[in-house]
Amino acid sequence: MKSIRKAVFPVAGMGTRFLPATKANPKEMLPIVDKPLIQYAVEEAVEAGIDTMIFIIGRTKRAIADHFDKAYELEAELEAKQKDKLLKLARDVIPPHVNCIYIRQSEALGLGHAVLCAAPAVGDEPFAVILADDLVKAEDQNCMEQMVNIYNEYQSSIIGTETIAKSDSDKYGMVAGPVVDKRVSEVQEIVEKPAPEDAPSDQGVVGRYILTPRIFDKLRTTGRGAGGEIQLTDAIAALRADEKVYAYSFEGKRYDCGSKLGYLQATVEYALCHDELKDDFCAYLKSLDCSVK
Ligand code: UTP
Repeated sequence: MKSIRKAVFPVAGMGTRFLPATKANPKEMLPIVDKPLIQYAVEEAVEAGIDTMIFIIGRTKRAIADHFDKAYELEAELEAKQKDKLLKLARDVIPPHVNCIYIRQSEALGLGHAVLCAAPAVGDEPFAVILADDLVKAEDQNCMEQMVNIYNEYQSSIIGTETIAKSDSDKYGMVAGPVVDKRVSEVQEIVEKPAPEDAPSDQGVVGRYILTPRIFDKLRTTGRGAGGEIQLTDAIAALRADEKVYAYSFEGKRYDCGSKLGYLQATVEYALCHDELKDDFCAYLKSLDCSVK
């Protein structure tokens, strides 16, 4: 049985919904309170036992690598000023045992294409995919830990899902199939961004996957799909012909930080849990007159 050691982080999207903030920076570098989205995603993977992070980077190629790299000048300055707490924050962005690999997706041809770019680094083993703009707040086990446990049980590809409003189905991959356990169902249908009347269920795919390496064969022969992009969903539909694929409705609350509203919701709720901020911030929110200006 192969364990999940590698995670792929596609961070090469255009991020058009956040322009101009994403003109020179990937949206995954947008902070929720004081940490960029990508750091939350990497921390989730590390907690799930993953030690190799593969970033698929795009035109704003330096920001992510710089974030996880040593910042010599900043560290020297903080050290000289004996700002130990800040120095620790700058240094502890990623644990020392974790390897980072950066691969360039030269053109943003879609999520499926971004995942295919990871093939040489993943090799012949199952791997995780985490979309950092889907931020998940969970209680006991984080989302990827839950997914790894389900993978260990089923030894098949696992797709993270949640119930969404059917009217939103044209924003998601949608899955349907029989329930095999409380939160697990076998995927029998998976379709990218269907019109609400064509959606096979109310189960939307969110940004957490564990995939077997056979997905790469499928991605190599997947043409452009919804939105003219090479869609991971279409390759998963093809994978189903060869292997079982399961959907897992994870425990936790997901924030769609790729949208402005989801990003603001995450910011407010994470601030209300932040040790240094929560009391003052809560008092501030209570003092607000929330009528639309
Ligand atoms: P999105 O569908 O959210 O697209 O990508 P986007 O381009 O990032 O954002 P908008 O819609 O223009 O605002 C889902 C995930 O797939 C990655 C993105 O970085 C994001 O994590 N992605 C998408 C790539 O890495 N490469 C691509 O070609 C497309």
